[in-house]
Amino acid sequence: MVYDLNSFVLQKDTLLSESKSWQYQKDFFNDQGINAWAGKVPFYITSNPYIANSYANIIIRFFQDCIHKDIYNPSEPFYIIELGAGSGTFSFYVIKRLLELQKALYLTDIKFVYVMTDFTDNNIQYWQDHRAFHSYIEKGLLDFARFDVETDTEINLIRSNKVLSADTRRPMNSYVKNPLIVLANYIFDTVSQDIFRVSQGKFQAALATLSTQKDNVQDNKPIELEQLKVEFSYVDSNIPFYQDQHLDAVLSHYQNQIDDGYFLFPVGSLRCIRRLMDISNHKLCLITSDKGYSRYGDLHQQEEPCCTFHGSFSMMVDFRAIAQYFKQCGGDYYHQFTEQSLNTSVFLQGFDLQTMPETRQAVETFLDAFGHATVFRLYEHINLTKSFSTLETLLTFLSTTQWDPHVFNSSFDLIINQIRSEYTSHAVVKDLAFIMEKIAVNFYYIPYSIDTLFNIALFFQEIGEYEKALHYYYQSINYYGKNDVTLYNMGLCHYFLNKPERALEMFGVAVKLNPNYIMARGWISQIESEMCEQ
Ligand SMILES: C[S@@+](CC[C@H](N)C(=O)[O-])C[C@H]1O[C@@H](n2cnc3c(N)ncnc32)[C@H](O)[C@@H]1O
Repeated sequence: MVYDLNSFVLQKDTLLSESKSWQYQKDFFNDQGINAWAGKVPFYITSNPYIANSYANIIIRFFQDCIHKDIYNPSEPFYIIELGAGSGTFSFYVIKRLLELQKALYLTDIKFVYVMTDFTDNNIQYWQDHRAFHSYIEKGLLDFARFDVETDTEINLIRSNKVLSADTRRPMNSYVKNPLIVLANYIFDTVSQDIFRVSQGKFQAALATLSTQKDNVQDNKPIELEQLKVEFSYVDSNIPFYQDQHLDAVLSHYQNQIDDGYFLFPVGSLRCIRRLMDISNHKLCLITSDKGYSRYGDLHQQEEPCCTFHGSFSMMVDFRAIAQYFKQCGGDYYHQFTEQSLNTSVFLQGFDLQTMPETRQAVETFLDAFGHATVFRLYEHINLTKSFSTLETLLTFLSTTQWDPHVFNSSFDLIINQIRSEYTSHAVVKDLAFIMEKIAVNFYYIPYSIDTLFNIALFFQEIGEYEKALHYYYQSINYYGKNDVTLYNMGLCHYFLNKPERALEMFGVAVKLNPNYIMARGWISQIESEMCEQ
């Protein structure tokens, strides 16, 4: 064995689920707060309008099935709990879409409260302050809770002060009266797991050794989580392993199925699901998306699982274990037809999909027929080939993605170039102008994000609609503050609207912000001389 003299062992031979790695993970998210999503942790695939559309459709159909089954108590809301809501982008899209669908389907009398949760107060504070959520908060549609997936047994709602609990010592209003809906995206891959190996008839559990470079250690913790090294050794084990009837039953199921190979066991997620089942009075609908597998687990069993680092770290999620758990607890499940890109599954306790026709129909449509995984694949394809795309294709793709600002921003240069081309049809430019508002209302601010509002303004400036351009430049300033280029463009808009004084003002501010802004200075001289001539 070769020893690395620069290496520092943080923890040796500890059951993976009990290792310090999960606390390091939480430290990362707590320290970073909202900045975790400024290019460090990937989140686009779970935070766009089209995945929200899929979820919202499934949720609304689930509501309808509950009404048809006469298990909806109209005096109480449905609670929709999102675990590890992160940046809040997905929450923003899904609430918006739920309200649109409620209105379209004349279901506005169904009450729901959406609860964004995370373990760190830093994220919760960010959401509470975010202006995109203020009207939902005022209407009582949105609440927040600090909820740690690994440990918490109750959901304490911050705004209404209600507690959702299974504890019989709590007051009666702590029990949820309607089935509980839980949404979990990119969270089960973030919380504790174990690895098991079946080898030559032996059943073995993985022990983790955590180490890092000496100069990456402070207070016995890694400074940069990405430089954490996680290595495994294996120890002979027996079932019962967890001393928990349901967990051990799932484990036995695997042990009996695998002759030789590894499997990941999402123990932290399963324990959380158990607590949520209790809170829900065993009427639960869980919709979850993660990097993981639900179909071809055997393909993944050949290689030792590992941690993947991307700011934080993640491990694949074996959705089959979750399905097995639900089956044992009187439930049902549906896995998306493919595990490519992102795996989405729906799990039910207290319900059977066969007797939930609305939900089943929505699940088949939005996970399989034309769901977010399909749209994401198309997105990747279009991203690679977009230099050959026409404006017509981009327009239809924007519609397919439910007017996704990210798609708009990533095609923006192309859109502008094509508008300038003499071959572009006026009708398609008009269509684009018409749908800009739909993109604008899908804008959700997070620090260091691309300024969609600026791009929309620039689009209108490019097609000569200067009033609209100014409207969006002002909106952009509201979020991102004043900068020289925005002010310069506003100066141009005012000039072409025949408002030279306002134009001068704007160019003046641009020069104040950037004294070397030659073009702004040039416009000031030109306008001043034009004014003198009049
Ligand atoms: C990978 S991010 C996913 C965020 C969001 N759901 C998304 O799809 O972009 C994981 C989120 O889970 C939160 N988290 C990590 N450990 C947690 C735990 N033990 N309990 C609750 N939330 C946790 C983090 O703060 C972070 O917001």
